[in-house]
Amino acid sequence: MKSQFEFGKVISDSSFVDREDERKRLSANSESAINTVLISPRRWGKTSLIAQVARENRNEKTVFCFLDLFNIRTEEEFYQKLAAQLIKSTSTKWEEWVETGRKFIKNLVPRFSIGDDPLHDFSISLDIVALKQSAEEILDLSEKIANEKGIRLVVCIDEFQNISFFDQPLAFQKQLRSYWQHHQQVCYIIYGSKKHMMAELFQSPKMPFYRFGDLMMLQKIEKEYWIPFIIKGFKDTGKEIKAEVAAVIPEMMENHPYYVQFLSYQCWNLTDSECTFQTIEQACAELLNQQTILYQREVDNLTNFQLNYLKAIANGEKQMNAAAVVKKYNLGTPGNIKKMKVTLENKEIIDVTGKTIEISDPLFRLWIRKYFL
Ligand SMILES: Nc1ncnc2c1ncn2[C@@H]1O[C@H](COP(=O)(O)OP(=O)(O)O)[C@@H](O)[C@H]1O
Ligand SMILES: [Mg+2]
Repeated sequence: MKSQFEFGKVISDSSFVDREDERKRLSANSESAINTVLISPRRWGKTSLIAQVARENRNEKTVFCFLDLFNIRTEEEFYQKLAAQLIKSTSTKWEEWVETGRKFIKNLVPRFSIGDDPLHDFSISLDIVALKQSAEEILDLSEKIANEKGIRLVVCIDEFQNISFFDQPLAFQKQLRSYWQHHQQVCYIIYGSKKHMMAELFQSPKMPFYRFGDLMMLQKIEKEYWIPFIIKGFKDTGKEIKAEVAAVIPEMMENHPYYVQFLSYQCWNLTDSECTFQTIEQACAELLNQQTILYQREVDNLTNFQLNYLKAIANGEKQMNAAAVVKKYNLGTPGNIKKMKVTLENKEIIDVTGKTIEISDPLFRLWIRKYFL
């Protein structure tokens, strides 16, 4: 039987846990055409959440358009992809997308190449020289299409922090904002990881996207939601796990959505009929084994001070500047401690939320505990 635990991909409706408040807030925003900016560390569930919101809210009058910038490094690529996705998501027949393309992107001759599946598989290529000159047309394309078709368009842009790779990220942001802020029928959901960088894009008054929309900091998912989900995942597939055993999985994985699903899957896999504490222990040991090469490499790239810093966090220390902690783990000067925090956060090895510092990967935390403490 197939497992109900899913990880490393956009999860289906049946594997989706909680996020009630966030879903409501995002639905209301898209209904009222209010822009949203959604930020969290990697793998906390941004992409899954927006996909779920789209599933729940799309109808004939509300169209969701998805744009993932994970492989986009230049402005030209951005315009190409934005134009293609807008046309694709709002047309049902290929004649329609050719027509829309020709109508709204006048300065360009869009070339459509059709793949195996002519309905969904096509690419639009635009001449690079003309592309920058036509940036304006492309940046207004969403509003024009929405007006023409009488629809509300929700444009979802994932991994937005990648725009910092562009040649002139600041000028680019100014340009985007100057067009998008006038749109009435279109709203934007912009989301991304590297919390530090994303926060800078949206929280600094100096930046063009400051106060662009409703700013949401996505949190992890609390244990009380995971426990019934895990129990059901076992039960529906003819296996069993008791509530007090199920609770250990989110506890060990510090409620981290990806890792809770990951460990749940490993436990499920090792279970014939009932998952016990021993099963979880075994699953965890196997995972740590699998990850050892990766973590070893990670540790090789750290300075001794940085490793000491991680040991302190892994051991549950909260006051990294306290004299006793500095001495016990040998953390160096206050300046050094401050610098390490920034470096480790930028490398996405730790996550800082307010005063809380966590090792991003809860398995890595267990691994450090096992081998270094
Ligand atoms: N609401 C959720 N319910 C259950 N699992 C989730 C949820 N959100 C995220 N996950 C788990 O975390 C993984 C990573 O989520 P994803 O949406 O890709 O994160 P992000 O976009 O923030 O990097 C998913 O594949 C899934 O295993
Ligand atoms: Mg994502």
